[in-house]
Amino acid sequence: MYAPQLGITNGEWQNGYGTPSDGQDTNNKNQPVRKLTKDAKQLIIYFSRSGSTELLAGMIEEKTSADILEVVVKNPYPGVYQKTLERANLERENNNYPELNMQLPDLSQYDTIFLGYQIWAMHLSHPMNSFLTTFGQLLSGKRIAPFMSEGGYGQGDSVQQIQEILCEQGASQNTFTQALVVDGNKVDRSKLQVAQWIAKINK
Ligand SMILES: Cc1cc2nc3c(=O)[nH]c(=O)nc-3n(C[C@H](O)[C@H](O)[C@H](O)COP(=O)(O)O)c2cc1C
Repeated sequence: MYAPQLGITNGEWQNGYGTPSDGQDTNNKNQPVRKLTKDAKQLIIYFSRSGSTELLAGMIEEKTSADILEVVVKNPYPGVYQKTLERANLERENNNYPELNMQLPDLSQYDTIFLGYQIWAMHLSHPMNSFLTTFGQLLSGKRIAPFMSEGGYGQGDSVQQIQEILCEQGASQNTFTQALVVDGNKVDRSKLQVAQWIAKINK
């Protein structure tokens, strides 16, 4: 897995500023992750540009045996950070979030949806914004467990945004767990934090 933030010091990392990606949102060597079974009651839905959130999603999958589904955009974000930043700024200014290239399965078997994303400009990253805007209504009645990786500045208003978008899309009767927030360069050292979070929300 390509996750360039891992193993670097805070000084080198600069809060994620400059982090490259593989230019295919983690998928230049593999197909987007999509594991759907008949019996799972929990589903992880996540997006990752540079691999840190994907790693977190994998750790949650390992601990819960949840099904897992990667959010895929039609036009992946550039590998060069500055280019991604410019695109993201334009998208936000124009309220023009990315088009998706994915199908959502029937969600009726799931009671909990783990929603994984990263913080961009202290908000929900744009692919997750698109996901919720496109499919939000289908999350009605689900328990939402938000998890994210970020550059050290915390969760911003992302959870509130999820609640607002779901509401705008007509989803109702959602409940929310506490969010899991991990620095993007420390995801590989967050096993205990992940385990404690899962134990708490799944007790
Ligand atoms: C366009 C862009 C904007 C970002 N803005 C923020 C921010 O406002 N606050 C923050 O803490 N991190 C910010 N980051 C850092 C990412 O949240 C962090 O690197 C995250 O771990 C990336 O997750 P990923 O590897 O799954 O893509 C930003 C990253 C990008 C690419």
